[in-house]
Amino acid sequence: MALQVELIPTGEIIRVVHPHRPCKLALGSDGVRVTMESALTARDRVGVQDFVLLENFTSEAAFIENLRRRFRENLIYTYIGPVLVSVNPYRDLQIYSRQHMERYRGVSFYEVPPHLFAVADTVYRALRTERRDQAVMISGESGAGKTEATKRLLQFYAETCPAPERGGAVRDRLLQSNPVLEAFGNAKTLRNDNSSRFGKYMDVQFDFKGAPVGGHILSYLLEKSRVVHQNHGERNFHIFYQLLEGGEEEMLRRLGLERNPQSYLYLVKGQCAKVSSINDKNDWKVVRKALTVIDFTEDEVEDLLSIVASVLHLGNIHFAADEESNAQVTTENQLKYLTRLLGVEGSTLREALTHRKIIAKGEELLSPLNLEQAAYARDALAKAVYSRTFTWLVEKINRSLASKDADSPSWRSTTVLGLLDIYGFEVFQHNSFEQFCINYCNEKLQQLFIELTLKSEQEEYEAEGIAWEPVQYFNNKIICDLVEEKFKGIISILDEECLRPGEATDLTFLEKLEDTIKHHPHLLTHKLADQRTRKSLGRGEFRLLHYAGEVTYSVTGFLDKNNDLLFRNLKETMCSSENPIMSQCFDRSELSDKKRPETVATQFKMSLLQLVEILKSKEPAYVRCIKPNDAKQPGRFDEVLIRHQVKYLGLMENLRVRRAGFAYRRKYEVFLQRYKSLCPETWPSWAGRPQDGVAVLVRHLGYKPEEYKMGRTKIFIRFPKTLFATEDALEVRRQSLATKIQAAWRGYHWRQKFLRVKQSAICIQSWWRGTLGRRKAAKRKWAAQTIRRFIRGFILRHAPRCPENAFFLDHVRTSFLLNLRRQLPRNVLDTSWPTPPPALREASELLRELCMKNMVWKYCRGISPEWKQQLQQKAVASEIFKGKKDNYPQSVPRLFISTRLGTDEISPKVLQALGSEPIQYAVPVVKYDRKGYKPRSRQLLLTPNAVVIVEDAKVKQRIDYANLTGISVSSLSDSLFVLHVQREDNKQKGDVVLQSDHVIETLTKVALSADRVNNININQGRWPHG
Ligand SMILES: Nc1ncnc2c1ncn2[C@@H]1O[C@H](COP(=O)(O)OP(=O)(O)OP(=O)(O)O)[C@@H](O)[C@H]1O
Ligand SMILES: [Mg+2]
Repeated sequence: MALQVELIPTGEIIRVVHPHRPCKLALGSDGVRVTMESALTARDRVGVQDFVLLENFTSEAAFIENLRRRFRENLIYTYIGPVLVSVNPYRDLQIYSRQHMERYRGVSFYEVPPHLFAVADTVYRALRTERRDQAVMISGESGAGKTEATKRLLQFYAETCPAPERGGAVRDRLLQSNPVLEAFGNAKTLRNDNSSRFGKYMDVQFDFKGAPVGGHILSYLLEKSRVVHQNHGERNFHIFYQLLEGGEEEMLRRLGLERNPQSYLYLVKGQCAKVSSINDKNDWKVVRKALTVIDFTEDEVEDLLSIVASVLHLGNIHFAADEESNAQVTTENQLKYLTRLLGVEGSTLREALTHRKIIAKGEELLSPLNLEQAAYARDALAKAVYSRTFTWLVEKINRSLASKDADSPSWRSTTVLGLLDIYGFEVFQHNSFEQFCINYCNEKLQQLFIELTLKSEQEEYEAEGIAWEPVQYFNNKIICDLVEEKFKGIISILDEECLRPGEATDLTFLEKLEDTIKHHPHLLTHKLADQRTRKSLGRGEFRLLHYAGEVTYSVTGFLDKNNDLLFRNLKETMCSSENPIMSQCFDRSELSDKKRPETVATQFKMSLLQLVEILKSKEPAYVRCIKPNDAKQPGRFDEVLIRHQVKYLGLMENLRVRRAGFAYRRKYEVFLQRYKSLCPETWPSWAGRPQDGVAVLVRHLGYKPEEYKMGRTKIFIRFPKTLFATEDALEVRRQSLATKIQAAWRGYHWRQKFLRVKQSAICIQSWWRGTLGRRKAAKRKWAAQTIRRFIRGFILRHAPRCPENAFFLDHVRTSFLLNLRRQLPRNVLDTSWPTPPPALREASELLRELCMKNMVWKYCRGISPEWKQQLQQKAVASEIFKGKKDNYPQSVPRLFISTRLGTDEISPKVLQALGSEPIQYAVPVVKYDRKGYKPRSRQLLLTPNAVVIVEDAKVKQRIDYANLTGISVSSLSDSLFVLHVQREDNKQKGDVVLQSDHVIETLTKVALSADRVNNININQGRWPHG
């Protein structure tokens, strides 16, 4: 059978078991590993699976072409050494199933095609075996797939790790925390329909058995300005729309909400409340369910949603100016709802929204706000309420994720796996303070990435004892410093502007920036720019040349957002809130704290520094996400966009560092195992150290000294072409090996089959022979016994019946009886009868009688009246003549005839003369005269009364029976007879001598008619004298 292979989206080569059926067998899972190198053969079509194998590794075009080839084949993952590059496919590729998870479990990173699960599994195994904390850093710009990747990783761990002994629900909580956080912290932006508007670092704790036992989330700077304003085409946080779309009628009524986002000013700014790609109603259900999983009580849910609703109501609060231009709340209804939902005094809230409390020289002063200030205060309150609720939510989730077993000994031996999903680098038309923070964060992470990858690379070279060749790369430390340096950094300058007394504005901040940082290569302002670039910069803008590209920030709102001030009386009002969540979010101690809180930028900077420390303390793994197009469409590979990302993600540099002279490295064991078939000395197995085996192998392959280096545990190959040549040689060798193996296998296979068939045939034969033999033997034995019994019986046949002769006797009897059927006499005259055995003599006689009777009975039943008469006459004839007259025997076979003359032969006159006397018998006779014995032809008629002798028409003589005294015949064979007549009868002429041809018949009839049977004389040898 031809081996059919095909590539699936993981990049794995799979074998199609049956071309027409979808049943496919991943080679990686059935023992035949398709290693990364083997996919090199498909490199023309699908590119290389690891960029380090790119021949022209310095060429960005080659890099992008490789990405393109793979993307076209739905291969979204590619390595740069241990770093995973992922291109968002914007379509479900079905590559995250349980089967895929299983395929990537427990296998070496390089043995399977690139996949997120390969990273997940490698990280997990390192965590378990080395017991070192791990961190997966997922980076990329907005919409590149970071959050998706984080979710897949969590899913992988939740599904594949063993369940903890106690608290198995932690897996569900880890998974279910996502939809809740996304509802509150994600929103549709122009870049991404589910854009994370906060940074997230999540720790998953594993016990010593590798089961997830707890988790902890750190959140970073929620983009709270979105609560009150969204750019065109963007939305507020998902939760608002979800609540309005999915919330039950009763709930909405309680919260005083209408099921229409258009009714809420905070939701209409972006003018796209409804988006086809988002199903708010369904998402609501998911969130609602997730809230229960992460330990929210019904009351807590109600309190939380009250706050969400109150933000919407706040947005609808309107003000009108009174005569003194002071703002007055005009929307009483909204105020009423707010009062109820936030659990605050209506009048206090009204005052707080329209006045500002100032403390001057220990005295509190209330100063009314104008319309603009009131709107500002309202929005500030909405932002503060929402962002603090978000922080509370994260804490609440953390409480739910916290291991319940924190005191147990196993807790102390937990290891931690960190997942970092932070907002990606962002450039909009209009970039503000939020983008500044987000992009600064990305700078920091990029720096960490460079530092760590370089470091690990260097460490590997050192460990292997190979000279480290410095690599040129862009270090973005200079940009990080520009932002965060003390006194001279942008954040310091911004803080200074925020804190200094006097009239500080966004523009004064910009001026300060220009003054302090005059000639920095990465900063530009209208004033600092040259003639040409000045045109592209507004007066209120500054431009940073980030590692990821230029971003122009508008300074408007920088000071405000950095200060993040909430008027004191608004804070006081919220501190008095009876909503339990609000009272936790607004703490009274905040009011008495005289110290000015840290600015937002500084807080963010600190948290980032902390994050960097956290990440540095862990073993890092990287997933670099790339967004293929801005239209969020599958299959579109926007080269310009991708080139840009490749550049700023530093992937080329990463590749250069990785290659740092050597394109490929593998442990000696792995290398030898793969290529040993190329050298007769190492094939089929090498007995010595793998390192020596590899040395022999590469010498045989003709590697030149400059092409490779031998490290302590690995071989380093400088050029991909060397590896490719080896790989090609392996391919050729494989073909011949495959043919040999196939031939050997086929031979073996068919021989085995033949032997099996032969064995089976022999087995069947022997069984059959055995069966036949046994049957025959049994038959013989039976026959011998029967014969013996028979003979014994025969010997004892005359003895009285006993067990020994019983069989014989029975046999004789039965056989006599059975044979009798065939030997019965054939007719009543047949007297034959078989001789019966002595025991059956009587029975035989009875049977014989029966048989005879039966034959006779049958015979008699078959006799007709005529025949009966015939027989009776014959019997009479026999009685008279048998043994007495010589010609009697001749008469026996001739039948007697009723009459030998028909009435037509008898003269009517005679008939007339006889009158009513019937003629019983008539026969022609010859009469001899008593004198002279002259013969005369006459007819002899028998009537019931007399014998009549007729001559033609005349009755010549009538002898009444009474006168007939006797009849004489000779014993000879003549046919003469004499009728004796009484002499006294005068009428008679004396005895009559007659001759009949049928003398016996005639006489019998006469004797019967005349009743003279006993009166017939048979004279011996002579005629009687008359
Ligand atoms: N591996 C993937 N398979 C299929 N679709 C994906 C994948 N990764 C991302 N997507 C699609 O791209 C969208 C954006 O991805 P995601 O939300 O993860 O981006 P992000 O990098 O987190 O962006 P942001 O920085 O804005 O949060 C997802 O909603 C999903 O539709
Ligand atoms: Mg995201």
